[in-house]
Amino acid sequence: MLTNHSFEALKALIKSNRTVRRFKADHPVEPDTLCALIELARFTASGRNAQPLRYKPVTSSESMNAIFPLLAWAGYFKEWAGPEPEQRPTAYLVQCLDTRLGKDCLCDDGLQLEAITLGAAALGLGCCIIKAFNAPKLKQELQLPEHLEPRYVLALGYPDETVVIEEMDGTSEADFKYFRTTDGVHHVPKRPLSELIIS
Ligand SMILES: Cc1cc2nc3c(=O)[nH]c(=O)nc-3n(C[C@H](O)[C@H](O)[C@H](O)COP(=O)(O)O)c2cc1C
Repeated sequence: MLTNHSFEALKALIKSNRTVRRFKADHPVEPDTLCALIELARFTASGRNAQPLRYKPVTSSESMNAIFPLLAWAGYFKEWAGPEPEQRPTAYLVQCLDTRLGKDCLCDDGLQLEAITLGAAALGLGCCIIKAFNAPKLKQELQLPEHLEPRYVLALGYPDETVVIEEMDGTSEADFKYFRTTDGVHHVPKRPLSELIIS
């Protein structure tokens, strides 16, 4: 099999890049770090090379408190309303589409989120990509101009939870829902390679 050190290092980073929803609220993310992460997005592929995505960093406690109720956390955990105040993210990046450059960004949004979350993982940060949020209220709260449409909210911070990958059993009916055990560990089932390859 073709492999080398860089490939193994990249694979380890991708495996470590798990969704985190509980953070050390007393451990802030520096504004410079957020800028460095946004810079990674500059170098990703872009449909038509239009590069229509913009990022609003949010770090003030006033704005963070206003945004938190607009987000939906861990849809499978019906009893959990999201992290308690002492485990909330310490920064958000709101990814926005500049609609003047196009109505659609194809998969630019996902490519950039992967670049940013991988960079965050490399720095020891954790992230949660959030699609379930109240976009009109968020736009209002952040006073975003008309042409910027929020697409995703990325919550960031230093992790205060353990997340582990679970191997799925390789049948299409297998349960893919993430779960938490009584020790607080978050488990994420992933399908085996054999299921991803169409034979
Ligand atoms: C497109 C997308 C939308 C997501 N939206 C939410 C969300 O609204 N709320 C949330 O808590 N997690 C959200 N997540 C995180 C997923 O639940 C998470 O990626 C999944 O459980 C797998 O865990 P992993 O990222 O550790 O592999 C989203 C992830 C993606 C890729």
